[in-house]
Amino acid sequence: MGLKLGDIAPDFEQDSSEGPIRFHEWLDGKWAVLFSHPADFTPVCTTELGFTAKLKEEFDKRNVKAIALSVDSAESHTQWIGDINSTQNTLVNFPILADEDRKVSELYDLIHPNASETLTVRSLFVIDPNKKIRLTITYPASTGRNFHEILRVIDSLQLTDNYKVATPANWKDGEDVVIVPSIKDEAEIKERFPKGYTAVTPYLRLTPQPNR
Ligand code: BEZ
Repeated sequence: MGLKLGDIAPDFEQDSSEGPIRFHEWLDGKWAVLFSHPADFTPVCTTELGFTAKLKEEFDKRNVKAIALSVDSAESHTQWIGDINSTQNTLVNFPILADEDRKVSELYDLIHPNASETLTVRSLFVIDPNKKIRLTITYPASTGRNFHEILRVIDSLQLTDNYKVATPANWKDGEDVVIVPSIKDEAEIKERFPKGYTAVTPYLRLTPQPNR
């Protein structure tokens, strides 16, 4: 059975391109993005890792650490990082887990045998500071991920953890949000959302993003 939203991200010890990692210790109370790759020296993964490195400032702003995984060795990762840095014009600034024994792949259900018996799928987990899994997303090997979407979901999670709102379709940071349906009391709405709101229907109430 795969991991579910709200589950604690399993702890592990595994080697990486930056040396051995004890996962829960490495998290250090921050948000994290753990993402897996089919294999080293593959073209789509090369672009994904390069792009993630370039997003460091965006991850830092949101208090997020990135960590990648593939089932190759740390030595292979080190060589591949050289290629990523030179071809993607960046410096990989996060560890890549060397999951040769597939310990982490099994814990996180990253081998989907009907897709491939040997390669890890392109899965991604957003983990919060309480070590809870808040997003799971799995792409096929042939499709590179949209990391702007990952940042967008993290923005939504960090906002909706702190305010009684949800974010509508295609929402981006700064746009109007939805007041959660459980708030019915007009006085409470006024107190929580002093900028006012528009009731499109009694259950679809839009309000300016409260932390802006
Ligand atoms: C890639 O990362 O480029 C890739 C990996 C496996 C299959 C297809 C593409």
